[in-house]
Amino acid sequence: MKGKEEGNLFEKIASLAKRRGFIYPGSEIYGGLGGFYDWGHLGVKLKWNIESSWWREMVQLRDDVVGIDTALIMNPKAWEASGHVSGFSDPLVECKKCHHRFRADQIGGNKCPDCGGALTESRQFNMMFKTFVGPAEDTASVAYLRPETAGGIFVNFKNILSTNRLKIPFGIAQIGKAFRNEINPRDFVFRTREFKQMELEYFVRPGEDEKYFDEWVERRFAWHKSIGLKDVRKREQTKEERAHYSKATTDIEYEFPFGWQEIEGIANRGDFDLSAHAKASGQDLSYLDEETKERFIPYVIEPSVGVERIALALLCEAYHEEKDRVVLKFSPKMAPIKVAVFPLLANKPELVKLARKIYEELRQEYAVAWDARGNIGKRYYSQDEIGTPFCITVDFDSLEKDDVTVRDRDTTKQERVKIKELKEYLKRRLG
Ligand code: GAP
Repeated sequence: MKGKEEGNLFEKIASLAKRRGFIYPGSEIYGGLGGFYDWGHLGVKLKWNIESSWWREMVQLRDDVVGIDTALIMNPKAWEASGHVSGFSDPLVECKKCHHRFRADQIGGNKCPDCGGALTESRQFNMMFKTFVGPAEDTASVAYLRPETAGGIFVNFKNILSTNRLKIPFGIAQIGKAFRNEINPRDFVFRTREFKQMELEYFVRPGEDEKYFDEWVERRFAWHKSIGLKDVRKREQTKEERAHYSKATTDIEYEFPFGWQEIEGIANRGDFDLSAHAKASGQDLSYLDEETKERFIPYVIEPSVGVERIALALLCEAYHEEKDRVVLKFSPKMAPIKVAVFPLLANKPELVKLARKIYEELRQEYAVAWDARGNIGKRYYSQDEIGTPFCITVDFDSLEKDDVTVRDRDTTKQERVKIKELKEYLKRRLG
């Protein structure tokens, strides 16, 4: 549901996300911490669904991609070589009156957006979080929390080549946390200081990079559509916008209630990273084509997407207010809970027994909720609000006729389905 016409739509979505246990402010009992969030039961499931869909498409269904899971903290020399120590920064300005800090490129004009005070000259602020490795807190032990997962892939290029039979073009995929000390975390979980990235580094022969770049942009665009995001578009970044390593970047953007924003970036990183790591480490990071006997440093195409940003886009897309209900219309494969099972009355043991049996069977295959509280209307309302596609009710007829009522979240229509056909029915409807 788009809400430019409804100013407080975004607050409603954030409030539902907290009330129903998708997302909580991080360390809330201590007043929170800007840019950090905790994910509850339904939020975790939503993120899993996003990650599994990405992994299935990017790794499981491809012959040319392998997975990896690398350390969050790497030898700091890697971040020097990659240009992040010197170049991974945003322009920072500070208000001389109220001392609030802002990203210079995110505020219009040269006055403080909070109090109207004068601003300092902008200076570059490095976004990498620093820590110390080992017991001494000196410059020799400084290390960084990774600002992107890609770094771990590049430093393992040689390991991957020697342990897998890969022929160019091939890719290495990773899902994992990244950290950025953002000057202005904002818009709920849109821009946070800790988030998860899903990244693929796809290595190609120089000269074939533009072809593969275009292919990946199309493939990734189709993925966003496939998980239910309707309002997506592609936008080429300008030279000024591009990261220091990028020859070309196309963003995939989603129309959030606060406007069109990047949800994924596809970059052509050329041979920037492998060349830089080869030079700094003194290791040979070239690729030998066994057939042509050519040796070269591959170029890399990188689709990179944030899990939480996709979760937020899915919540915004799914949110609908109807006459007497709020409903999250997730596509069935993204819905955190697929089916809910209810006994019509909680105090009739024969109904509870049969409903429980169905519940136990279905939960072997799906994420299933059980609810026996209050009346059926309230239970439907509660499941609609978290986006459960189907609710199954066991009533007195079920005992006689071996069937149940299945209620569809989107149409609210109900139909009777034989218990023995339930699994097949759900398989068909859930996809
Ligand atoms: N390795 C390339 C890279 O990191 P990026 O455009 O900086 O590129 C890629 O990040 C994706 O990671 C973004 O499109 C976004 O989905 C997610 N992302 C980046 N910074 C984020 C932040 N502060 N909070 C949440 N997600 C973020």
